[in-house]
Formats: sequence, structure tokens, C-alpha cells
Amino acid sequence: MKDYRKDFPILDQDETIYFDNAATAQKPACVMEALTDYYSRSNANPLRGLYDWSLRATEVLETARQKAADLIGAAAKEEIIFTRNTTEALNLAAYSYALNHLKAGDEIAVCISEHHSNFLPWQMAAEKTGAVLRFLEPGPDGRLTAEEIRAKITPNCRLAAVAQVSNVLGRVQPVREIADRVHEVGAVLVVDGAQSVPHMAVDVQAMDADFFAFSGHKMMGPMGIGVLYGKQALLEKMPPFLRGGEMIEYVTKDSASWAELPHKFEAGTVNAADAAGLSAAIDYLAAVGYEEIRQRELALTRRLMGHLKEMPYVTVYGSEDPAEHCGIVTFNIEGCHPHDVASILNEDGIAIRAGHHCAQPLMQYLQINAACRASLYFYNTEAEVDRFAQSLKKVRGALGYGS
Ligand code: ALA
Repeated sequence: MKDYRKDFPILDQDETIYFDNAATAQKPACVMEALTDYYSRSNANPLRGLYDWSLRATEVLETARQKAADLIGAAAKEEIIFTRNTTEALNLAAYSYALNHLKAGDEIAVCISEHHSNFLPWQMAAEKTGAVLRFLEPGPDGRLTAEEIRAKITPNCRLAAVAQVSNVLGRVQPVREIADRVHEVGAVLVVDGAQSVPHMAVDVQAMDADFFAFSGHKMMGPMGIGVLYGKQALLEKMPPFLRGGEMIEYVTKDSASWAELPHKFEAGTVNAADAAGLSAAIDYLAAVGYEEIRQRELALTRRLMGHLKEMPYVTVYGSEDPAEHCGIVTFNIEGCHPHDVASILNEDGIAIRAGHHCAQPLMQYLQINAACRASLYFYNTEAEVDRFAQSLKKVRGALGYGS
């Protein structure tokens, strides 16, 4: 079995068991080298200069755009808008599309398990337009059923927003089925791909998403670059989200017209350096391969959930099947606050996330305030999973419980 950890300086140098990959993934050396290389050889403001460095910076940016388009199966690179992250991408769709296309009485369907980033922009759009939010509720195993999809995406629906993979339950949603219903009623579908792109092959055309957002940093790229994919016909009729440099065609004292896609949505100096890092991350991801990622994560998740099953005081949320978790296992230990659990694990050098996971409506739905989340990636090991289980078994004792 290949030891991918050698590709990651932080994992190679430090014994920390990093199980917070859903928050951000670690970076392979090639991503850091791409950043250094960009700043060492090509740094200039892209899209503006007529000299070699600026032309190189533009090429770096546009190469990353093409790679991102290919990664998610977009029809053209002009459908790829660079943003800071998934959150900004979803806000772009909300401010530019929803505020201009929704009206009072329309419905916005969101899943109750959405991350706040794919909920608050739609709550805002509802407040500002008079549209009404409707909540899709997953069953106990975290999956949206065909009945729920039909019931909540009504003929009044004009926009639906779902995560392809929940950041808490790890469940993969049937996005193509949702898209079919959404289009049947004449609405658009926004898919949050922040937790899917790092783990599984995505094809936005096959899933028929109208908008699809993801972040570079969760798929081993740098922090500070994300993507909004949008179908070209929709992006064409949307006004800019941010206004400023390089997104115009022509400006007078009284008016302005906008640049062609994608530049209409990329106001100000674009993040070419992180685009270089994103390109390297996409290449690295391709070299490892989604099949390998899936197999390794599945083996690790099976082992981890197997350990948890032996602890009667542990409740795992979502499906009982490790294959339905995308490496994400969220749980609680009876009588122990998740922050205490995370702090005790930290003493053993184990990093997990504890809290509401930016998904408070889901916490309310599950009738809990908070939970612990272990999120795995392909570079984690079985030995780490075993050490995690050993440490977890000590938590209740450390908090004064007999067993
Ligand atoms: N969205 C990230 C998470 O789920 C930060 O942890």
C-alpha cells in the first residue's frame, strides 16, 4: 500500500492524528511548490499586463480554470467562476441569481442538513424577495427519499439547494433525481459540492446541476480559492455580484457594461497564485485517483465504525453503513459534551471537530446541541483509527464515569 503521507510535509513531520479533513485537507508538497513557483517565476497582475510575467500569470489562471472545468465535467471553462471558497460561490448565486429571479410567494427548497453556507444565503434571499423556505428532511439514514423530494419540491419551487454530501452525516444525496424534479417544476438546482469533490468523481452535466460550488482547500488545494460552476445560459443573464476592476466592457460617468464570462464575476485582482496551487491539487488528486480514495476511505470508515459499535455509550448519526459516510463519522458519547471529548482526544494528539458543524438546523432536527466528528481522508491509516478508538474508550473515565 502506497504511503501517501510522505507527500504531505505536515503529516510526515508530525505524529498528530488528523481526523478533521472535512474542515480542511492537508496539502501535498506539490501544491506548496506550485505556489512558490508562481511567486518565484510568474507573479504579476493577471489579465492586465502586456508583458511576459502578466501573460504567464494569466496562463496560470486560465489553465486552472480549464482543469477545474474538466474535474467537474463542465461544458466550457467560461462556466467556472473563481471565488474565495464555497461560501462565497453560494452567496454569488444567491445575490446575483436568486435576488433577481425570485418573487413573493415563490418557494426555495433546502435540505435541513445544509451547512449554514448553503442555507443562510437562501434565508437571506427569502427575506429580501418574500419567497418561502421549505425544508427537505432526510430519513434516519440521512438520505432524501423520492417521496420527500416530490413532496417538498412543489410546483411553486423556483430554487432548490442541497449538498451532494452532508458535512455532518456524510451521506451522498441523489442529486440527479433532485435535479429532475427541480427541472420538472421549472426551478433551478444549486449543489454544494464542498464535501463531494474531494472524495468522488463529479459530473455536473450528468447530475444536471444549474450551479455547483466547491472549495480548493478541502481537496488539498490552497485556502482562498473556490469555484462556482453555473450553466452558461444562466450566468449570461445574471448581473455581476461584485463590481470593480477587470469585470467591465466599458464604463462611462453614468453607466457600465460587463465583460464576457467568466470575468464579469471576477472583480478585482484574481487569485492566480492559489489557482496555481489548485491546478497542482487537481493533478495530485487525479494521480491518486478517486477509486483509490474511495477504497481507502471505505476501509478506514469500516474499521472506525466497527470500533464505535463496540462502545455501547456511543451514538453514530446517519446511516449504519460505512459505505454511506464518505469518510465522515459524526457521533456523541453519552453524558459527555463534544468539546470535552475533543479536548481529551487532543491531549492524545488527535484532531477532530466538535460543535454544531455550522449546521444548526440539522442539530435541532436531530435534537442535539452538538456532536463530535471524525472525518477521514485517504492518507489516514488503520493504525491511526485504532489509536483513536483506544483514546475514545478513555474519555468517559476521564470525565468521572465508571464505564
Ligand atoms: N465546512 C467545514 C466543516 O464542515 C468547515 O468543518
